[in-house]
Amino acid sequence: MLKIALTGADGLVGSRIIELLNKDFEFFPIPQTEMDITDVDKVKNRLAETDFDIFFHLAAYTNVAGAETNKDICFKINRDGTKNIFDAVYSKGKKMVYISTDFVFDGKTPPYFEDSLPNPIAVYAASKYEGEKIVRDKAMIVRIAYPYRASFDIKKDFFRTFKFYLEQKKPLSGITDSLMTPTFIDDIAYGLKYLFNNYSTAIYHLVGARSLSPYDAALLVAEKFNLDKSLVGKTSYDEYVKGKAPLPKLADIRSKKNNFWKMKSFEEGLEEIKKQL
Ligand SMILES: NC(=O)c1ccc[n+]([C@@H]2O[C@H](COP(=O)([O-])OP(=O)(O)OC[C@H]3O[C@@H](n4cnc5c(N)ncnc54)[C@H](OP(=O)(O)O)[C@@H]3O)[C@@H](O)[C@H]2O)c1
Repeated sequence: MLKIALTGADGLVGSRIIELLNKDFEFFPIPQTEMDITDVDKVKNRLAETDFDIFFHLAAYTNVAGAETNKDICFKINRDGTKNIFDAVYSKGKKMVYISTDFVFDGKTPPYFEDSLPNPIAVYAASKYEGEKIVRDKAMIVRIAYPYRASFDIKKDFFRTFKFYLEQKKPLSGITDSLMTPTFIDDIAYGLKYLFNNYSTAIYHLVGARSLSPYDAALLVAEKFNLDKSLVGKTSYDEYVKGKAPLPKLADIRSKKNNFWKMKSFEEGLEEIKKQL
């Protein structure tokens, strides 16, 4: 069985991947309490004494809004931390999988495939792209977009944020003139199962089957969970991003390479979540 050491195992994405794949791989989570990835000596020593076939690097500074005012810490974790991990993995001659984001694209000229040119427009996105540049052609890069799952107490994804607002009967505003590509985390896990077993130093997009506007996504959540659709108001991209970290406007992300796992549309993902809850 392949041995996979990983960072970020207790996060939104990593914890679900472990739940779903722990019979297929032997996972060795390395929590931040044992190894802060910004501590180069810690990383060197910990990885030198850890036996693994693949290093799966998920840990990141993921607060997109916070990154705008905490640029240094964001780059320290996402760029320098990734370099520390990469150097230690590479010196052992082992494989590495780096999780990145659709936010590396500017959202101006969709659709975006694996070979589209990144052009990040905000701090978090820029730091993740710096991470990509460190590992590019020497590790696998897997970009994901708007990951969501049925439940996770520690952090709400966009789907559970929409659902929470609607359940509390609070109005919410959905952007009508932008696109997102929601990705069911279970599909990310099963796509990764194939990629771990068929490793190459290439870029892959593991993203939902279709993009849609956040407004339409919020309406779908209301519809599927029998919540009040009239609480979903409309806003424009320009109105929404005013005073906030810029986000890619037309994040229609697609894959030319994923011929191994059928990713769900947001509607299909919500149907699956209803069964899981
Ligand atoms: N969530 C999204 O919308 C999204 C979208 C696209 C791509 N991604 C990417 O997917 C990956 C996973 O995201 P996520 O949402 O699951 O993350 P998350 O829930 O925010 O968890 C982040 C993880 O990184 C760890 N971490 C942070 N700083 C660290 C440090 N200095 N040293 C060691 N570990 C550290 C955290 O450890 P603690 O628990 O100890 O703090 C936590 O396990 C990230 O690479 C992210 O960039 C996420």
